[in-house]
Amino acid sequence: LTHLLSTDGLPREVITQILDTASSFLEISTRDVKKVPLLRGKSVFNLFFENSTRTRTTFEIAAKRLSADVINLDVSRSSTAKGETLLDTIDNLVAMHADMFVVRHASSGAPYLIAEHLQRVGRDDVHVVNAGDGRHAHPTQGLLDMFTIRHYKQDFSQLTVAIVGDILHSRVARSDLHALAALGTGEVRAVGPQTLLPSALDKMGVRVCHDLATGLRDADVIIMLRLQNERMNGALLPSAREYFHCYGLTPAMLALAKPDAIVMHPGPMNRGVEIDSEVADGPQAVILPQVTFGIAVRMAVMSILAGN
Ligand code: CP
Repeated sequence: LTHLLSTDGLPREVITQILDTASSFLEISTRDVKKVPLLRGKSVFNLFFENSTRTRTTFEIAAKRLSADVINLDVSRSSTAKGETLLDTIDNLVAMHADMFVVRHASSGAPYLIAEHLQRVGRDDVHVVNAGDGRHAHPTQGLLDMFTIRHYKQDFSQLTVAIVGDILHSRVARSDLHALAALGTGEVRAVGPQTLLPSALDKMGVRVCHDLATGLRDADVIIMLRLQNERMNGALLPSAREYFHCYGLTPAMLALAKPDAIVMHPGPMNRGVEIDSEVADGPQAVILPQVTFGIAVRMAVMSILAGN
């Protein structure tokens, strides 16, 4: 694996290798081992052209725990504001001996552009991790979601997983769907209004439900998504109140799922829009453990890319 750009096409064995490696990092962190020397002497550049709380911070923590030097480019103060192109920026950072780029960008495909450029200039030793590109992919979120599901539920083949909300604009949902398929998940449901679901879901073997109650019934895992207004280009949106009425996860709706169902959310949450606070803070929510697992999963991805 040279780059991690998508979960689409990632073989089950590679996903399992990443999850197993993450498990061992999580295990050593519980033994109070704070750092391992796997990326000592390597420079990881965090290039976040779009806002982030969880992904940027956990990548930084993960790289530091692997003993890498971490450089967070402050994009708003960088020379991209003076018109420097993305690839000129990359060339300059490679000249500073970058070993890995962690890239978030509003444009789908930006991390691919960087990876292709590095190949063209003969720098296959420099790795790219997609930290979320437009509405296309967020592979490390997909992998940490799989880690979370495996942690609580073990066998994917026996599970019903419901992904609820704005799947059309969600790079997380796309990454989850590919990874869930690769891991042989029993049943995957996409739940939401017609306008927020992509058209080809049934071709992926996903069961489409427009009714929340039907979508949640007897589910083992519920993944809630927020309305990604920033990617809707002014489309007519339901009001937050209308949306919550039809698709908000309340305690009454959660009661339709299996009693031991877990509730996930990639964050950021919009309380009172897609999820009720009583559920978000309740005993079935594993939203904060997802964040913690993200550190181990990102350590695994970076150490595997670096050849460990
Ligand atoms: N899940 C996720 O990508 O969160 P951030 O936007 O805060 O990184």
